[in-house]
Amino acid sequence: MKIQHLKLLNFRNYEKLEVSFSPVSNILYGKNGGGKTSLIESIYVLALTKSFRGSVDKVVIMNNKDVCRIEGTILDEYENNYKIIIKDGGKKVKINNTKIDKLSDYISKISVVLFNPDDLRFIKDSPSVRRKAINLEISQINNGYLKNLNMYNKLLKQRNTYLKTMNINANSSSEYLDILTNKLIDYGEKIYLSRKKYIDLLNEKIGEFYYKICQISNLNLEYNSDYDNFDRKKILKRYKDSLNRDIILGKTTFGIHHDDILFKLNDYSIKDYGSEGQQKNAIISYKLAELEIFNKIRGNYPILILDDLFSELDMVKINNIFGLLNENIQTFITTTEIDKINKDIIDKSKLFLIDDGIVKDG
Ligand SMILES: Nc1ncnc2c1ncn2[C@@H]1O[C@H](COP(=O)(O)OP(=O)(O)OP(=O)(O)O)[C@@H](O)[C@H]1O
Ligand SMILES: [Mg+2]
Repeated sequence: MKIQHLKLLNFRNYEKLEVSFSPVSNILYGKNGGGKTSLIESIYVLALTKSFRGSVDKVVIMNNKDVCRIEGTILDEYENNYKIIIKDGGKKVKINNTKIDKLSDYISKISVVLFNPDDLRFIKDSPSVRRKAINLEISQINNGYLKNLNMYNKLLKQRNTYLKTMNINANSSSEYLDILTNKLIDYGEKIYLSRKKYIDLLNEKIGEFYYKICQISNLNLEYNSDYDNFDRKKILKRYKDSLNRDIILGKTTFGIHHDDILFKLNDYSIKDYGSEGQQKNAIISYKLAELEIFNKIRGNYPILILDDLFSELDMVKINNIFGLLNENIQTFITTTEIDKINKDIIDKSKLFLIDDGIVKDG
């Protein structure tokens, strides 16, 4: 998958922009605050309709403007035109000028894998950050996943509400709770299996990439789930055992809504023992593994965006990372330090000098 052409109107510090990209390597360089991240952010928003910075959509609209527009020509099997228009009150999306009513029919048609310094949160933060990220990733390669997850969350809410009712009214029927618990397990099992399969696929590649970047072996992901080695009977018993506590707390304390993924380096958790650089390389290896899974399942590589890769990594590692990128992957790299990049990489890349919302071929 490649983005050939991009047009922006009132997006962050770009009032108007029209630019064409290389199908292989694009380097966006320039001083701090010029608009490098904003430019790659616009590609991300075009794909996923949401930014990776700021929780509200309207932050991407240029200050003092009412509406912004991103338009891109995407080459997949065919060439298609994608458009997103964002206003304070909402957003509209179009493919080849036809309005798409449901965002879910639009999201993920363009696949993008992003590395951003903020991604270190993926290792450092609480499990919910990791669950959210893998949910997004799996939903892009598995059609039924989001539906199952929504069903699970709906049932979890119903079960929690009913636990509160049971707490107030000791005569509440336990039959209804059993129905909810069984349904919850049905959907929980589906999610558990999808997550397990995805993490297994990541593990086929992540260690190899990590080794190639920093010559340290045995990086792998450990999937921790209450549903580990799924066995319905045992799981039912666990729900039964925790019932009294669940009623007092008014919530379900057991299930896949507590799942977590740990990055392990030779059995040590990288969250607790790894250096910043090791953590960064682990995330990059994860993203590269993700690219391979997408390619295997969807038949082409997502667009890869590496924002500010250079801070904290030495040039040997950076050049190792570049060595791992194949020519079928369209890559965007942002940096303030163009002179640090290997000459061979520069020669293969299209360069863009970015300053104050203006882009010049560099
Ligand atoms: N909604 C907005 N309207 C106008 N300008 C904005 C808006 N949001 C952010 N900016 C400005 O856009 C400029 C570009 O920011 P951006 O993060 O893209 O820079 P950058 O080139 O990635 O910098 P760095 O090298 O520090 O990462 C900044 O000056 C920022 O203050
Ligand atoms: Mg930036």
